[in-house]
Amino acid sequence: MCHNISKIKTPKISIAPMVDRTDRHFRYFTRLLTKNTLLYTEMITAQAIIHGDRNMLLDFDEFERPLALQIAGCDSKNIGKAVKIAEKWNYDEINLNVGCSSDRVSGNDMGAYLIAYPELVRDMVCQMRKNTDKPITVKHRIGIDGSGILPDSFDRKIIDKYEDLTNFIDIVEKAKVDRFIVHARIAILAGLSPKENREVPPIRYEDIYRLKKEYPYLNIDINGGIKTVEEIQTHLKHVDGVMIGRAAYDNPFMLTEVEKFFKGGKVNNISRGEVIEELIKYIEKLDENIKIQNVLKHTMGLFHGVKGSKKWRQIITLPWDKDPVDILKEALEILPQEPLNIKKY
Ligand SMILES: Cc1cc2nc3c(=O)[nH]c(=O)nc-3n(C[C@H](O)[C@H](O)[C@H](O)COP(=O)(O)O)c2cc1C
Repeated sequence: MCHNISKIKTPKISIAPMVDRTDRHFRYFTRLLTKNTLLYTEMITAQAIIHGDRNMLLDFDEFERPLALQIAGCDSKNIGKAVKIAEKWNYDEINLNVGCSSDRVSGNDMGAYLIAYPELVRDMVCQMRKNTDKPITVKHRIGIDGSGILPDSFDRKIIDKYEDLTNFIDIVEKAKVDRFIVHARIAILAGLSPKENREVPPIRYEDIYRLKKEYPYLNIDINGGIKTVEEIQTHLKHVDGVMIGRAAYDNPFMLTEVEKFFKGGKVNNISRGEVIEELIKYIEKLDENIKIQNVLKHTMGLFHGVKGSKKWRQIITLPWDKDPVDILKEALEILPQEPLNIKKY
């Protein structure tokens, strides 16, 4: 058993790890909108950290902090090794992915597949602990349907009852997990695409509320389908924190208001125009070989629900024949300049 002591400061709100989305550029952009929300990297496999281009995978800008690294893996030794390597980068938290349903991941016995192996998850967390003093968190689903995927040794391949969830928690918490982030759906490992697995299995927030009630001493965050500031407020009455995924990407300006959940209780008063001005400064500092479209694609939702939305999307997706900085400066003139931080979503 692993004996270290939990020492995390609960962040309350976080932005979910999302492959192809939560890269450095997106994180820089979101940090303009919210200073305190905990950000996550995209999922990085332990193998990639051990054998891949570490600087490319792990480098980040101090401005992005607080920032958690999410790692996926399927054995304790490699997870431990990856965490040890990542120490040099000094992330604020290391998170283990036990929620991803993608074939690429579950096909290698990673992600949500590991729900069927809580002892292994516990050992992985212990190994992570041995290699860092940083908080260790686990992001997982409430259960899985492992039909067609789990080996015959499992007499029950659908592990989706509330008692299955508490069994998982009972075993894994022995490794002193600093926070459990629970996606309120099961993952169906065979037959559904990752996208469908974020939409088809029904949401079960009640299970997570109950979990917090029965395990008041654990830090429990809720995730899945949470779209508005009002919904966040409701969830915070039941659990310690809320993780937002797609809504933060599709409607990032919402994050300026999310800021009020942190101490001080104030929204971030930056306007969309000021965000664009900051993006211009960011772009001006970037290496020449970085495609500006790869930065701006993450800002697609900046004008979500307000005037200028279509225009902004056109501007950042058009084939560019001019200097991107000039295009953005022109955009500032074209786009509506009323107090843009008015809440209209
Ligand atoms: C494009 C995309 C990529 C994702 N990649 C990851 C990932 O790398 N690691 C992970 O744990 N979850 C990943 N997820 C799942 C999210 O972290 C989150 O759990 C899920 O989207 C549900 O939250 P939401 O309804 O607020 O979006 C991804 C989701 C999306 C939409």
